[in-house]
Amino acid sequence: MELTGKTVLITGASMGIGEALAEAFAEAGAHLVLAARNEGRLGEVANRVGRHGGKVLAVAADVTREDDVQKLLTVGTHLTGRVDVLINNAGVGMNGAVADLDIDALRQCLELNVVAPVRLIQAFLPVMAAAGGGSIVQVSSVLGKVSVPYTAGYNASKYALNAISDALRLEAAAKGITVISVYPGSTESNFRANSLGAPGAPKVRLYRMTSDTVARRVVTAVKRGERDVFVTRKDALLCWAATRFPRLADRILRTAYRSK
Ligand SMILES: NC(=O)c1ccc[n+]([C@@H]2O[C@H](COP(=O)([O-])OP(=O)(O)OC[C@H]3O[C@@H](n4cnc5c(N)ncnc54)[C@H](OP(=O)(O)O)[C@@H]3O)[C@@H](O)[C@H]2O)c1
Repeated sequence: MELTGKTVLITGASMGIGEALAEAFAEAGAHLVLAARNEGRLGEVANRVGRHGGKVLAVAADVTREDDVQKLLTVGTHLTGRVDVLINNAGVGMNGAVADLDIDALRQCLELNVVAPVRLIQAFLPVMAAAGGGSIVQVSSVLGKVSVPYTAGYNASKYALNAISDALRLEAAAKGITVISVYPGSTESNFRANSLGAPGAPKVRLYRMTSDTVARRVVTAVKRGERDVFVTRKDALLCWAATRFPRLADRILRTAYRSK
């Protein structure tokens, strides 16, 4: 999809990967509808990315609330009369061993990472279909491909998101809608500080990418209409190897997380 003049809606745009996505899509010539709860931070992002010349609208919205999603639909489609790309980026991490999982935190994690994207898809799919098509980008994670110790709640949410994306891709193809799943690895952002659940989950850090790297990869993926998007070859290789050699992956992951 050529992005110049297209309208892109990004959830979770007040910081981290969402903020970087706003910058990257503005630079690519798109108009933007930006959503997050923190109105002040969102306004700052909107002002900054507005310098690229496209229209930018900041909408304070909690995407777990149905009335906020409806508000987003009403004011978001008012900006240019259409939304060509919906990016379900807002998300939250969650820590804790399965045996100790905080059930309220698990519900909150699933509400934001799984239910909210479905609400947004239900709101915006008809708008896209009426315009002849569009793209839906689902920001998942390598942890939606490989489960590791002490993040089962988060793993579950991203696995579920992938399942929804895979079904939606088949259902929406006839409407001209492309569904793109993005699987970033560990990324510099406020994600760890904002995570739910028990603090002190073991830190096993292989490498970390910047939010800008993720955002630029997403822009390319939307332009090309890709299906599954790993940001680095290393991520793709790790996910492939863990699926292909599950017992070996179990041994490595058990050892890596053991002594923490
Ligand atoms: N960072 C990583 O290592 C990593 C790796 C793989 C995948 N991801 C995924 O990338 C996405 C972005 O994460 P990030 O790293 O940028 O995390 P982040 O820095 O914590 O940013 C999360 C964003 O989501 C917004 N948000 C949270 N709850 C919301 C709600 N109820 N309604 C609307 N917006 C909400 C936050 O803004 P407000 O607080 O202003 O609402 C913020 O803009 C997530 O889906 C995450 O799972 C991250």
